[in-house]
Amino acid sequence: MKDAATTVMERCELLANISEEPGLIHRPYGSQAMNGVNDIVAGWMRTAGMSTRRDQIGNLIGRYEGLGDRTFILGSHLDTVRDAGKYDGILGVMVAIACVQQLHDRGERLSCAIEVVGFADEEGLRFGTTFLGSSAYAGCFDTTRLQLEDRGGMTLREAVRSFGGDPDALEGDGRSGEDLLGYCEVHIEQGPVLEKEDLPVGVVTAINGQSRIRVGFIGEAGHAGTVPMEGRRDALCAAAEFVLGVETLAKAEADTVGTVGEIQALPGAVNVVPGEVRHSLDLRHPNDGERERVRDSLEDRAREIAASRGCESLWEVRQETDAVPADPGLSSLLSQAVEDSGLKSYRLPSGAGHDASQVAALAPVAMLFVRCKEGISHNPAETVARDDVEIAIRVMRRFLRLLGESHSTEDGAVGQAAP
Ligand code: GLV
Ligand code: MN
Ligand code: MN
Repeated sequence: MKDAATTVMERCELLANISEEPGLIHRPYGSQAMNGVNDIVAGWMRTAGMSTRRDQIGNLIGRYEGLGDRTFILGSHLDTVRDAGKYDGILGVMVAIACVQQLHDRGERLSCAIEVVGFADEEGLRFGTTFLGSSAYAGCFDTTRLQLEDRGGMTLREAVRSFGGDPDALEGDGRSGEDLLGYCEVHIEQGPVLEKEDLPVGVVTAINGQSRIRVGFIGEAGHAGTVPMEGRRDALCAAAEFVLGVETLAKAEADTVGTVGEIQALPGAVNVVPGEVRHSLDLRHPNDGERERVRDSLEDRAREIAASRGCESLWEVRQETDAVPADPGLSSLLSQAVEDSGLKSYRLPSGAGHDASQVAALAPVAMLFVRCKEGISHNPAETVARDDVEIAIRVMRRFLRLLGESHSTEDGAVGQAAP
């Protein structure tokens, strides 16, 4: 029989073929590719002894019953950025299923049920917002987002419906936290720290906060050959000045990262002065107050640049996510599991956003990072070593055992976790 880590690696490879575009991985929220992945992953969940369901937003939820009434959640996301790697999000779901499969193969039940969630949207590239899946699951979905449009003009409301859900019933996706012991997400680090430390895994201390903003500059379109340079109201030149302003400010402010990753110039012709530009802004910081201060000064900067170029600026905050600390108790248990596996327990913060930041509204959360080659992520070159995946599975199984023990000392439930 194939070992669990090899199965996880093969499954990540297989899911990488399910994409909206040939030759690259692209699985935005609500796409056919997401439907295809949900169907395949649901089959693997059922093979691991779980019952499965999909909620209205399209999260895939597998449940492996336990001996008691409490539940522990494992999971991550199944959507991807465009031209993605194979492991961001997917690895966490595959490792979770592997852990449950091992319990099922041994006929074992934990003192608590395990719920494995494949979240429907963490990346947020289609609607300019992140965490559509995990915010619905955590009961904090902002329904005003239903009006947002994708680049093709389809609203999120329509996208939820075409993905098989009822946009008016999203509140029902919100899970009660009453039975929950917590949530633990395995995720690739997406940074270089673990590799530098020569460690396969690390325990996350906190997830940085982020702002996602749609920025616009409106000028005046004109003939590229006849409108003199002096007096042009070129919206793309205004945007270009702003983009460099983001870089300058983010470099000057400690711990700040700012990115303009997506831009659209209209009307978009070689011989037309751009009259309108829309672009994204992604801003992150470990401290929410600092992030808000930098965000506000960038909004002022956009206004100043627009005014100096005879343009108008638009500023639409699409999302604000506060920084979220990991739960100290669960993180200690996770560190203990790392040490019990013969490894040094190393703690590090997360610059990337994660579904755990939303689930934290419901239950205590912890995260285990897995080393990835050269920290490369959001890139098809994203690489994870099979041996590190084997370690992550071992750590997670040990963690579940420790959880069973700590749970049983708390309320007398009997833990039957495998070693
Ligand atoms: C998710 O990958 C994010 O942090 O943008
Ligand atoms: Mn991710
Ligand atoms: Mn990602």
